[in-house]
Amino acid sequence: MEPLIQIVEVGPRDGLQNEKEIVPTDIKIEFIQRLVQSGLKTIETTSFVSPKWVPQMADHEKIMQLLPKSANVRYPVLVPNKQGLENALRCQAKDIAVFAAASETFSQKNINRSIEQSLQEFTQVIQLARQQGLNVRGYVSCVLGCPYEGKILPSAVVKVAKRLYEAGCYEISLGDTIGVGTPLEAKSMLSTVAKEIPIQHLALHFHDTYGQALANILACLELGASTIDSSVAGLGGCPYAKGATGNVATEEVLYLLNGLGLKTDINLDKLIDAGSYICQFLNRPNRSKVAVATIAKRN
Ligand code: HMG
Ligand code: MG
Repeated sequence: MEPLIQIVEVGPRDGLQNEKEIVPTDIKIEFIQRLVQSGLKTIETTSFVSPKWVPQMADHEKIMQLLPKSANVRYPVLVPNKQGLENALRCQAKDIAVFAAASETFSQKNINRSIEQSLQEFTQVIQLARQQGLNVRGYVSCVLGCPYEGKILPSAVVKVAKRLYEAGCYEISLGDTIGVGTPLEAKSMLSTVAKEIPIQHLALHFHDTYGQALANILACLELGASTIDSSVAGLGGCPYAKGATGNVATEEVLYLLNGLGLKTDINLDKLIDAGSYICQFLNRPNRSKVAVATIAKRN
């Protein structure tokens, strides 16, 4: 039976994209291998973006070659334009994600395109990708605030989400890119979008900059949300959203879901080990409180 709640692990992509020091490909692959062993079924692994814009993701071709072969694990990759799609297809990607924004300034800074330009290009990318049998996910960034424009109206989120969904994305992931939202805002945004797109086709992608991500997730679970993006050890950030920290930690999400009795088939201890592995390599404290507490108890 399918678990009630799906977790999309974004650590290898969102988690690492902001790291200044290039992480060697074999370390990334070992990290992904450990995530697979924890039981995660969807792991976003890399981006087919310009290496000039995000040097950390420049090894996407090698990553795709070396991914652990696991029949029931999906490895989505980010694609910003047709060139990215062509490269991803050459590397046999089966799942891609396009990424738009609800904020005009963020769209310009992140992908050098206006929202409208990006939606026009993404519509073509989605169509071409689907013709090739790929599954396409769509992100909307800045759904609860923008690092450049401040407050973003739910109506702006709906407009972009609807265009991506109608263009053929199977799921729209709603990104609180800078982690500024609070539970009532998150709920209000989600319920506004869910009037246009069935809630089972929406995902929560909350960064934890202000420590609100888990509270926002709980509030949205109450509305019926069932897909959560997260990053092991709370790694992450966006190079074009200064000051924004990582995604909600996957360990925190799993601990919460376990406490709510919502089954996921993910092993918390193995997940914690995957997070420790990458934190040790990065020489960085683990941002997951669940991981820190569990490791302290073990010793
Ligand atoms: P551009 O400079 O406007 O591109 O960048 P262009 O079309 O003018 O082309 C310029 C050069 O880039 C050309 O090379 C192209 O070949 C090359 P040159 O002739 O100068 O040698 N190029 C590419 N190279 C490799 N792969 C490609 C590609 N496209 C063009 N796909 C572009 C436009 C979109 C490429 C650039 O802005 C870019 O790569 N942006 C990516 C930014 C990014 O990755 N941001 C982080 C991910 S989004 C995120 O984190 C948010 C999310 O987590 C949700 C949330 O939290 O809200 C998803
Ligand atoms: Mg993100």
